[in-house]
Amino acid sequence: MSQDAFRLISPDGTESELPVHKGTTGPDVIDISRLYREQGVFTYDPGFMATGSCSSDITYIDGEEGVLMYRGYPVEQLAKHSSFIEVSYLLLHGDLPTAEQLEEFDQTIRRHTMLNEGMLKFFNGFRYDAHPMAILSAVVGSMSAYYHDSLDSSNPEERDIFAHRILAKLPTVAAAAYKLNIGQPFMYPQNDLNYTENLLHMLFAVPAEPYEMDEIAAEALDLLFILHADHEQNCSTSTVRMAGSSGANPYSAIAAGISALWGPAHGGANEAVLEMLQEIGHPKHIGKFVDKAKDRDDPFRLMGFGHRVYKNFDPRATIIREMAHKVLARLGRQDTPLFDLALELEQVALKDEYFIEKNLYPNVDFYSGIIYRALNIPTSMFTVMFALGRSVGWTAHWREMIADPTGRISRPRQLYTGPTQRDYVAVADR
Ligand code: ACO
Repeated sequence: MSQDAFRLISPDGTESELPVHKGTTGPDVIDISRLYREQGVFTYDPGFMATGSCSSDITYIDGEEGVLMYRGYPVEQLAKHSSFIEVSYLLLHGDLPTAEQLEEFDQTIRRHTMLNEGMLKFFNGFRYDAHPMAILSAVVGSMSAYYHDSLDSSNPEERDIFAHRILAKLPTVAAAAYKLNIGQPFMYPQNDLNYTENLLHMLFAVPAEPYEMDEIAAEALDLLFILHADHEQNCSTSTVRMAGSSGANPYSAIAAGISALWGPAHGGANEAVLEMLQEIGHPKHIGKFVDKAKDRDDPFRLMGFGHRVYKNFDPRATIIREMAHKVLARLGRQDTPLFDLALELEQVALKDEYFIEKNLYPNVDFYSGIIYRALNIPTSMFTVMFALGRSVGWTAHWREMIADPTGRISRPRQLYTGPTQRDYVAVADR
């Protein structure tokens, strides 16, 4: 980070030279960490509209140009040529692996897929209809109770073991949550299968008969996981960093991230999109719902539209839109009406003044739910699928944060608007 300076003069004339840091690309940042000491004021930026919370060399986004790069590689190239496992290596280690490194990493992930047998008992304790996201965050949080040899954040080897476990075991936990929901027996992982094949096997195979692998489904999931693998300081990743900054064990930090992802403004949007499309039901109702989304007094929003960072287009949406076409064409599933409805809604919104003016475009989740649906993945599992892809991004960020020697606990300040000091009044006198 090279430095420049930004001069700030307060109304009383106090002057501060605030250092300006330059990244390798993207906007400069003004370092305000000395501001309170020098000027006695905090900055105020609810929702982090213009605040960089850390420096990071993992992922770069240019929201105006629709650019997304992992470790410098454009996501379009990775989506076309790479695999989720290779992208995971890239995110965790910083560079693309050699053939040997990739083989070793792949084998390591395959070997860590089983859960401690004791953990499987947890699943019997959940209600049969528990939301799989609730199960995922609870089970991941409790992994710290089972894997004591990967809790020492200061030990790089233990950090590696933790990373491998999270990546490898999350699909097993996700599939177990799904099997509980549908009342089928849990399927053990099969390590001769690759990452997405193994997931499909655990989700859809039953012990009573052989399972026929759906290669299109495996390909589509791999692509979705690549696209969801990381997205710099989004809500769930920032949550992982914040929870981890206290020194909390990494499983707890990831469980916090899973909880943050669940919300409909973030990872829960893919589930919300499908629910919204079902509610719209028919193209003839689109106008009514678009009007509702534009009405300031109506809390309804078009799910899958808009993004905090992307203000022209979401590059992931462009890639996934193509895959949605491919999956529906090749699978010939009867869900096409829902996809047709989505495409019509997209066209109506893209031509609407309100959406144009506010730069609201379909985001990745507008299409991902359509693909999941075509693959027979139930709506309640959509956000879980997102979590599987994002787990590697969370882990990469946690590792970066914990390895930073200048790292501190994340502890924002506030603008206090409550009562000023007042005296306690005994209950009888109130
Ligand atoms: N439908 C209708 N209006 C919208 C929508 C929408 N989907 N999104 C934003 N707007 C409007 C807002 O009401 C606001 O209007 P105003 O200026 O009159 O107040 C304006 O556009 C700006 O939106 P903000 O809410 O300020 O944008 P913010 O960056 O805070 O929110 C978010 C971004 C949460 C993604 C929002 O667009 C949204 O709720 N979208 C729907 C949910 C969704 O798809 N989330 C997935 C995000 S992608 C991901 O996590 C992978």
